[in-house]
This record gives sequence, C-alpha cells and structure tokens, in this order.
Amino acid sequence: MSNVIAIDGPAASGKSTAARLLAERLNIAYVNTGSLYRAVALAARRAGQEMGALSPEFLNTLKLEYVPDQNGRYELKLDGSLPGAELRSAETASGASLVATQLAVRDYLLGVQRSFAGEKLIVMEGRDIGTVIFPDARYKFFITATPEERARRRLAQSGEVTDGATLAEVAKAIAERDRQDSERRIAPLKPAPDAELIDTTGFAVGEVVDYIVKKVQAGTEEK
Ligand code: DC
Repeated sequence: MSNVIAIDGPAASGKSTAARLLAERLNIAYVNTGSLYRAVALAARRAGQEMGALSPEFLNTLKLEYVPDQNGRYELKLDGSLPGAELRSAETASGASLVATQLAVRDYLLGVQRSFAGEKLIVMEGRDIGTVIFPDARYKFFITATPEERARRRLAQSGEVTDGATLAEVAKAIAERDRQDSERRIAPLKPAPDAELIDTTGFAVGEVVDYIVKKVQAGTEEK
C-alpha cells in the first residue's frame, strides 16, 4: 500500500485548497499534480510546439522538479525557475487539459509522480491519482461540487480567469475541460471504485478538511 492520500476531482471543485489545507493540518507534504500538466503546456507554448501532439523528444528536453519551500510545501520549477502566475492562467489550464490527453505526456509524468511515494504519508491531488498513479493509495477521496458552484468558486479566484470573464463564460470553459478530462481514452477523470465521494456543494472548505482529517485519523488508529 502506498502512503498517499489521493484527492481527485474535476476542475474548480475546491480540491487544491482542500488538499493544501489538509497537508498543513497533518503537517505532511502536498503535491498538486495538475501543475505538472500545466508546466508541460506552458513549456510547449514557449517553445512554439504543436500542443496537440507533443513528442517524447520534446518532453525529454524539459526539466521539471519539485523543490520544498520554507514551509515544506512542494513548488514546481520548470527549467530551473518558478513558472509564476502564467501557470495558473485560463489559457494554461486549457492547454494542460489538451496535453493531458496524450499518452507520451502521461507516460512521461507517471514516473515523476510515482517518485513521491515513500515512508512518509503525503497528499497528492489530481485527476487519476487514485485510479492510475497510486491505485494502492492508503486513502482516496473524490471531491465534487455542482457545475454552478464550481464556476462561482473559479470566478472568485481572480488569477485563474481571463479579466472580465462572466460566470457563463467560466462555466463554459469548466464544462469543456470536464468533457476533455472525462472522455479521454487514457486515465480519464473518474472516481476510483474504492474512493470516498465528497460533494462539497454548500460546504466551506474548512468543513471538508475537518471531515477528511477525521477519516484519516480514524484510519491511522485502525492500522
Ligand atoms: O488540477 P488542474 O486544473 O491544475 O489540472 C489541469 C489539467 O491537467 C486538467 O484539466 C487535466 C490535467 N490533469 C490530469 O490529467 N491528471 C492529473 N492528475 C492532474 C491534472
């Protein structure tokens, strides 16, 4: 069994915030795997690559590494520097969803993600952590919320939406990403059969984190 708390779920479901706060509460490391796909999309755009069909040769030129910050939180460096706000932009998000459909990209990032498992419990958050990356994760949660609630949450995160975007536009972009992430052939977004589903609609993120902490503490006592 891998010492991993897998947190999966669709775009803007609140899973990143929940995963980050959970890791803080448990005083363990947290890895946001979406940033890997975002970094690949960003690097491809910077290099003028055809985003729809990235080659293993191009991927092998990338230097992706996670370095711990002063709080022990992992931050992603691309080619030696922190990618900054561009990593969170709406354009990078849709590019990430596109590159994430490609086998070469998923294969390339599989090893990077698996290298995190070790003796210490860690929180890993993404789309396929509980299904593909760590099917043997110690804990698995799948976080959802209604499309309307997710669009509202995303709109409130100013750095992640195009300036002046309306709620309807944000909802449309999220729906398109959901469709692409769920319908792709390789490692589609779906709950692992043994994941616990948490619908966070109407709940504050603190309540979601409290719930998961209790589950993890109860599970740890049982073992
Ligand atoms: O979580 P995020 O919005 O940063 O993820 C960006 C894209 O990356 C998402 O639309 C699909 C892809 N992704 C993935 O395919 N598998 C993961 N484990 C994480 C992200």
